[in-house]
Amino acid sequence: MMTRREMMTAGALLAMPALAPAQNQASGFTLPRLPYAFDALEPYIDAQTMQIHHDKHHQAYVDNLNKAVGADPALARLSVEELLQRLDTVPAAIRTQVRNQGGGHANHSLYWQILCPASKSGKPSGDLAAALERSFGGQDKFEEKLQAASLGVFGSGWAWLSVDQGKNLVLDSAPNQDSPLLVGKRPLLGIDVWEHAYYLKYQNRRADYLKAILQVINWEFVSAKYHEAMG
Ligand SMILES: [Fe+2]
Repeated sequence: MMTRREMMTAGALLAMPALAPAQNQASGFTLPRLPYAFDALEPYIDAQTMQIHHDKHHQAYVDNLNKAVGADPALARLSVEELLQRLDTVPAAIRTQVRNQGGGHANHSLYWQILCPASKSGKPSGDLAAALERSFGGQDKFEEKLQAASLGVFGSGWAWLSVDQGKNLVLDSAPNQDSPLLVGKRPLLGIDVWEHAYYLKYQNRRADYLKAILQVINWEFVSAKYHEAMG
């Protein structure tokens, strides 16, 4: 099904001279580029997993979100974050789709950014380092709790480090593609524990995937997200 903008673009193209190139204008929500190569997280996250995860799974969330909101110009103008933050105002007929597909789009868009090659992973800095110390007893303790929260997800879901409305750091988990944005929190770091994130390399060994992914966290990015959320 074409989105409203695709239909407008298609209509505009039909009205143009026959020799005009049939450009496919960007429309609606789009898949963000991966900010590094598929194999950049090797050996911790393998290239094939990254390629399928980004090009197939994330693309499907984007496509399905566009199908859900494409016919509603008022919704199509909003960012995916805004859609999730005001889900209760989304028409009931598409609310579940926006929650699932919009959540999938927002969560994965963040996930690609919170990862980076191991050589660039670094450490939490500045205010985030201090907040992790206050809230969890430091980075090591935080990572232990993050692993426990991730392991504790029954079935598919995510573990989240977020900032709540009281500006506190919170660590919890959520099922499916439920975003912290749904409950007024600002996500800083999300660990995808759907099997599609790790099954090719780690099969059923979720704990091994969790140990590995901690080697490729982009702490500079997460620290900047914290600063932004506290601002
Ligand atoms: Fe995923």
